[in-house]
Amino acid sequence: MRGGFVLAVLTVLCHGHVLRQDEIELEWWESTIFYQIYPRSFADSDGDGIGDLKGITSKLEYIKEIGAGAVWLSPIFQSPMYDFGYDISDFYAIHDEFGTMEDFEELLTKADSLDIKIVLDLVPNHTSNESIWFQEALKGNEKYYNYFVWEDGIIDENGEMQPPNNWLSHFRGSAWEYKEEVGKYYLHQFVVGQPDLNYRNPDVVEEMNNVIRFWLDKGVAGFRVDAVNCLFEVDKDMFGGKYPDEPFSGRTDVDPESHDYLSHIYTKDQNETYYMVYQWRNVFDEIAAKDGLPRVMMTEVYASIQDVVKYFGEGDQIGAQVPFNFDLITDVDASSSAADMKRAIDKFLTYKPLEKKPNWVVGNHDQSRMATRYGSSLVDGINMIVLLLPGVGVTYMGEEIGLVDGYVSWEDTVDPSGCNTNDPINYVTSSRDPERTPFQWNAEKNAGFSTADKTWLPVAEGYETLNVEVQKAAERSNLKVYQALADLRQDSVFRYGRYDSLAINHDVFAFRRWYKADTYIVLVNMRDMSHEVDLTYFENVTGDVSVVIRSVHSPKSEGDVFDASTVPVAPYEGIVLKLL
Ligand code: NOJ
Ligand code: MG
Repeated sequence: MRGGFVLAVLTVLCHGHVLRQDEIELEWWESTIFYQIYPRSFADSDGDGIGDLKGITSKLEYIKEIGAGAVWLSPIFQSPMYDFGYDISDFYAIHDEFGTMEDFEELLTKADSLDIKIVLDLVPNHTSNESIWFQEALKGNEKYYNYFVWEDGIIDENGEMQPPNNWLSHFRGSAWEYKEEVGKYYLHQFVVGQPDLNYRNPDVVEEMNNVIRFWLDKGVAGFRVDAVNCLFEVDKDMFGGKYPDEPFSGRTDVDPESHDYLSHIYTKDQNETYYMVYQWRNVFDEIAAKDGLPRVMMTEVYASIQDVVKYFGEGDQIGAQVPFNFDLITDVDASSSAADMKRAIDKFLTYKPLEKKPNWVVGNHDQSRMATRYGSSLVDGINMIVLLLPGVGVTYMGEEIGLVDGYVSWEDTVDPSGCNTNDPINYVTSSRDPERTPFQWNAEKNAGFSTADKTWLPVAEGYETLNVEVQKAAERSNLKVYQALADLRQDSVFRYGRYDSLAINHDVFAFRRWYKADTYIVLVNMRDMSHEVDLTYFENVTGDVSVVIRSVHSPKSEGDVFDASTVPVAPYEGIVLKLL
C-alpha cells in the first residue's frame, strides 16, 4: 500500500503527470515469449539418445533467432525418471543424463550473453521415492517421516489390508502405497515413485523455500511450478482424523481406476494452496530485491477460471505473474468455430484482475501438439493469436515449425500415463509420448537430434521435410511467419495496445490491437472455406488495410491493400493487417 503511494508520488514528481497504464515501462517477463524445452527431447550432445544441457546450450542461438526471450526447462534435477524428471530425488543436483552443475552454469552464462532468461521447473508437490528424504523416512527418521503423508490401512472383512480410502492417482489406481517398514500407506497423487510432500509441516515449507533460493541465487529467472493445486489435501482433523473418501464424479465414460472417476474435492484446489503461492512469491521477491532482477512465477493449474485467477493474488497478497491459461488447450480445437475461439480468449481476459497480464498457452509436454490438435493448416493462425494477443506468449518447442505428434508404438511407450493403462490398443489416448518425440532439426539421422542408434523415443515420421533446416531455407515457412510475428510483437501496439475481437462469421475470428495512431487487425480463418469479410463491424475501422504478415499458404503478398469492408480470406488463412 505505502510502497504504491510513494511510487505514485514519485511518478508525478518525475514526469509532471501520472503515467497511464499503457505508458508504464514493462518488466522483462511482461512482453517476452517463453519457450518451453523438454530437455530429453531437444538436442543430444553426447550421443546417448537423450537430450542434455550441452545440447540445449548449443541451440541457444536458435532460440534467439526465433525471437524468444526466455526458456523454461522441464525438470533437469537428479531423478530415477519414473515420470521423466517430475520425480526428483535430489532437488539440488543436476540429473547425470543431462550433465553436470558446470554444464548448467555454462548454459546460464551463454543464455545471459544472448539476453535469454532461464526459468526452471519447481516440483513442490512430491519427491521421488528414491530421495534422501523418503529413504530417511523409511528408516524411521522422524523429521523426514513428517515430510510425507501417511495413513493407516483398513482391514477388510477377509482380514486383508486395504488402502485408507478411495483416493486415486492421476496415473490410475489407488493413490496410496503400503510401506512394510513403516506399517502405513503413503500418499502419491502421481506415480508410486512420487510420494506427496506434506505442506502442513513447516519444515517442508522451509525446505522448498531453500530449494527456490538455491536456484534463484544462481541467477535463474524464475520457476514454472508443477501441479500446484495438488499441494494440499483436506485437513483430516476436520474429519475425525481420517481422510474422507472422494465422491463419484458422475463420469460414466471412464472406469473406476481412472483419476476422472472421482471428483477431487479433498485433494485439489484447497484454499491453503493460494497462501503457499503468495508465500513463495515473497521468496522470489526477496531474491529480486538483492540483485534487481524480477523473478517470474508461472503456475501449472488445470482448474476453473475462478480458481486459476486466484494464483495472481490480490491486494497485499501477491502471487504468480503467469498462472498458466490453458483455455486454448482445453476449450478449443480444430472443430471450434470463430465464436468458440472468441469465447475462449475472452474468458481469461474477463476473469483476470484488471492490472494483471494475460498469458496464452497452446501446448506443453502433457498435451497433444498444437499442430495436431488444430491441424497443420492453422499453425500460423494460432501462432498469430498466441504472439499478438496482449500479454505473455508461451511456445512449446516445435510450435514455431508446426511439429506434429509422433507415433509411438506400445512397445516403445515409456510414459507411465500410457504404460499404466496396460492396454496395447487404447494406451494412445493416455500416453504423453507422442508430444515428447525428439525435436526435428534437419533431414539427417534422427532429425539431427542425436547420433545414437536408438533415441529414447522414436523420431516422428516425416522429419525429412518437417524440420528447422528446411524451414530456414524455404522462402516461406511456419518458422519465418513465427519470426515475423515475434518481431512485430516488439511494436508498442502489441506491448501496450488495447484489444477487442469479433467472430466475423462462423469461421473467421478477428481481433484488433491499437495504440495511439496505429491499429492492427488479425484475421484467422478456422475453416477450409473462402470468405469475404467486412472489418468495418469494428468500431472506427474504415478505409484501407494492408497486409503485414500472412500465413504460409496465403495467396496474398505483404503490402497488398484492401478496402476494410471487403477483405477476401482464403481457407485457413491467417493475416495481420494494418489500418492505413
Ligand atoms: C505436471 C507435469 O507437467 C507432468 O508432466 C507430470 O507428470 C505431473 N505434473 C506430475 O509432476
Ligand atoms: Mg545425451
